[in-house]
Amino acid sequence: MRVLIIGCGYVGLPLGATLVRAGHEVFGVRRSCAGADQLAAAGIQPFAADITKPADLARLPTPFDWVVNCVSSTKGGVEEYREVYLEGTRHLIEWLAACPPKKLVYTGSTSVYGQIDGAAVKETSPTEPASDTSKILVETEKLLLDAAAQKRLLAVVLRVAGIYGEERGHLFQQYLRDEARITGKGERIINMIHRDDLVGVILAALKNGRAGEVYNAVDDEPVTQLHFFRWLAETLGKWMPPFATDAEDAQRKRGLTNKKVLNRKLKMELGYQFKYPTFRQGYTDEIRRLEDAGLLNIQPEPR
Ligand SMILES: NC(=O)c1ccc[n+]([C@@H]2O[C@H](COP(=O)([O-])OP(=O)(O)OC[C@H]3O[C@@H](n4cnc5c(N)ncnc54)[C@H](OP(=O)(O)O)[C@@H]3O)[C@@H](O)[C@H]2O)c1
Repeated sequence: MRVLIIGCGYVGLPLGATLVRAGHEVFGVRRSCAGADQLAAAGIQPFAADITKPADLARLPTPFDWVVNCVSSTKGGVEEYREVYLEGTRHLIEWLAACPPKKLVYTGSTSVYGQIDGAAVKETSPTEPASDTSKILVETEKLLLDAAAQKRLLAVVLRVAGIYGEERGHLFQQYLRDEARITGKGERIINMIHRDDLVGVILAALKNGRAGEVYNAVDDEPVTQLHFFRWLAETLGKWMPPFATDAEDAQRKRGLTNKKVLNRKLKMELGYQFKYPTFRQGYTDEIRRLEDAGLLNIQPEPR
């Protein structure tokens, strides 16, 4: 297969490397040439192109059998979201109209689920998020699902939970830096997926995902913040983070969702088996890696 990965970063790079090892011809896109050596070392052919610029896309060496869109908005503001996700996807659909791939996989986000009551959500649950950035992601999905319904593009949407793994995992990093806070009573639910599993899920979606379908890409265990930190504290022999103050809580609460994202469809339809079914296995590996590299500096609990 000739495979194009747009957004060859934390997820795209190991995805590309895995595809190269499996014998595919892989092209990786980033906006600049920075990191081109890393891509080339993995056997990926690097291209500098910006998904927000149709002229850049037009220069890519079509046709491709598989396309993966895993660009990420680096700044995170509403305007950048609109440019990178919504308009970027629109450009992609228009560009691929002349040479449609056998499959396109887009890595969206579970943030499209706006539920705040801790409900279990599956792919058919309402996607009515309060935040403006998540609304843009709902619109982006719609572009792809409409294109698939009209048989213009064989697109599959993945709704990806919080990605963790080597050097990643927002709460874990905060915890190691002693900057973590437990919000509310710690009852907010966290949904996660290890980067290696996300790579596996994307491959499964490229091979077996049905065009026009949405799959939640999340592991088996949604976990409350409190349980997550308790496990980390016990595993690392480090104290629990403090509870956030009311003022901090009030500030953070805006736009925060609370839901348990289910992965049954992914497992049933794509037959995906997780390498790290829960954060416990994934973080056990990451903690071991940090220990082996001498990078864990756990301070004893103050008396
Ligand atoms: N991180 C999470 O917890 C999370 C949660 C849900 C969903 N996701 C989604 O998962 C996917 C993979 O995320 P990731 O962690 O691998 O992101 P990442 O490490 O930030 O990689 C994104 C890549 O996209 C490139 N890029 C950014 N803007 C671009 C543009 N306009 N045109 C072309 N390339 C561009 C970046 O390279 P340059 O900056 O050099 O261009 C980078 O290599 C993304 O779609 C993200 O939205 C992530």
